[in-house]
Order: sequence, then C-alpha cells, then structure tokens
Amino acid sequence: MYGGAWRPGTIPDMSDLPPESDLPPEIDVSRPHPARMYDYYLGGKNHFAADRETAKTVLAAAPTTVVGARENRAFLGRAVRYLVAEAGIRQFLDIGTGLPTTNNVHEVAQAADPSVRVVYADNDPLVLAHARALLTSSPEGRTAYIQADLRDPAAILSSPVVREVLDFSQPIALMTVAVLHFVLDEFKPAAILTTLLDELPSGSYLTASHVTGEHLPAQAAATTRTYRSSGVPLQVRDSDEFARLVFDGLDLVPPGVVLVSEWRPDGTEPRPAPAEVNCYGGVARKP
Ligand SMILES: C[S@@+](CC[C@H](N)C(=O)[O-])C[C@H]1O[C@@H](n2cnc3c(N)ncnc32)[C@H](O)[C@@H]1O
Repeated sequence: MYGGAWRPGTIPDMSDLPPESDLPPEIDVSRPHPARMYDYYLGGKNHFAADRETAKTVLAAAPTTVVGARENRAFLGRAVRYLVAEAGIRQFLDIGTGLPTTNNVHEVAQAADPSVRVVYADNDPLVLAHARALLTSSPEGRTAYIQADLRDPAAILSSPVVREVLDFSQPIALMTVAVLHFVLDEFKPAAILTTLLDELPSGSYLTASHVTGEHLPAQAAATTRTYRSSGVPLQVRDSDEFARLVFDGLDLVPPGVVLVSEWRPDGTEPRPAPAEVNCYGGVARKP
C-alpha cells in the first residue's frame, strides 16, 4: 500500500498518488469518471490516464469545453453567494459536488455567513477519498459528505447524515450544478427533482446548470459520443428542455435561465461567446 496507510481523505494532492495498481479497488482508474475529467478541464491534478485521454479526445473536437467548465464553476460561486447574502439561505444540499477545488460551496457560503451548513453528495469514490478537504467547516457551521447517487433521491433524503446536519423545517438550497446532464431521460430526472423538492419547505431554492448542444451541435454530438463510448452517460439538453425539466413550478430568480456566464456576472469584463460556454444555469425559489 501507498505509505502503508492510504485511506479515504488522505490524498491532499494527486501528484503524490500511489501507483495506480496500489489504489483501493473502489477507485476504478480503468475508465474515465466525470469528476476527474472536470478536474482536468479546470486545470486540477486529480485525474488518471483514462480521464486525461478521454478529456483530450473531447477537447480535440470541442476545445471550448475548458471555457464552459470554468464559467460553470464561477456560476456556482456566484449562485452560492447570492443564496446566502441575498436570499438568506443557511443550508445547502450539494449533489454532484465534484472533487474539491477552489471556492467549494461551504467556503463561499461561510465567507458570507460562518453558520452555514452544507451536506455534499457525489457518487464518485475519489470524491469520497478527498472529502476531508470539504470538511473544513467554520466552527459556527457544519459540513458533511455522503457518497450517494442522484438517481436514488430516496436514499439521499433518508441518509442519517443529511437528516442530522440539515433542518428540513427551514429553507434549504438544493444544488445540482453540472450534474443533470449525467442523468439520462430513462432515469427520469424530473421525477428525481420532484422527489427532492417535495421534501424541502417553501422558501427553499434549486440551483442547476446543464450542458447544451444548441450552439455547437456537431461538437456536442462528438462530446456525447466520446463520453458514452467511455462508459459515462451524457445527455445534452437545450435551454428550453433544461428549463422545463428543472424549473417548472418554481419562481425563477432574475435573470432566469441563461448561459452560466450571464447569470449575475461580476464586473463588466467582456464575457465569452455562447458557443464557448455551452452551459445554461438558473436559480429558482420553491413557492
Ligand atoms: C462536472 S462535475 C460538477 C461539480 C460541481 N457541481 C461544479 O459544478 O463545479 C459533475 C459531478 O457530478 C458527479 N456525478 C455524476 N453523476 C452523478 C450521479 N448520478 N450521482 C451523484 N453524482 C454524480 C460526478 O462524479 C462529478 O463529481
């Protein structure tokens, strides 16, 4: 074993990863995982050869994927800041967390109010391995991590960790940022969201973003083929499909469903073109 003591939560930096053959069996390096490919696009170090090869194939056909990834991550940060500073939210359930990177949800949220509580959930065991970096809550707040699959919302809702950390009598922000495109129609994503939202009190919020093919259909088709042929389900949806799927029955916060780069941008810097971003996002309140 790596140093004799590799265990979840002990890899601060993948540059000192053990040889792939020494990793625990639940970390499958033989095929790419979306969290690790996203980390590659963002310039992180938490990826293996299979992730890099697949990501490079995606980038060869769709080089602006890195722009979309960065803009999506920035959207996530602005949405969290809005939810705490302007909407008064103090609790988050972040499903499809991704590997820890800069501006994790609790860091942004607790910078605005240290008492914020966050439960993170992801289905990639490597995210679990890095979860320690997500458990750095301020003393006034709380963070927790569960390994869970968005396609099984009942398991998330009945998790003792979720129930202990979050108070379901008070508003909760449900975050599904850049994860719903990994839930194919056959898994009924609308029903999944309904199950989750039904448990949340009025005044809760849903934040979501989703990759689209509407600006570059050929590149999106190539990306979809690359992901699927590597065993990663991916389904791009256009902005109308995304809006209907996610925000029906909720009160959208202005400016509504827009490119993630256009959602309450900071400053007046020129923003990338739609065909570089290829990702829509929005925030909405449960009436
Ligand atoms: C592109 S990353 C997004 C990370 C973060 N939410 C963000 O927007 O910066 C997608 C994450 O969703 C996770 N994921 C994909 N399918 C999932 C599922 N069915 N259940 C839970 N997590 C999933 C992946 O492991 C990955 O960490």
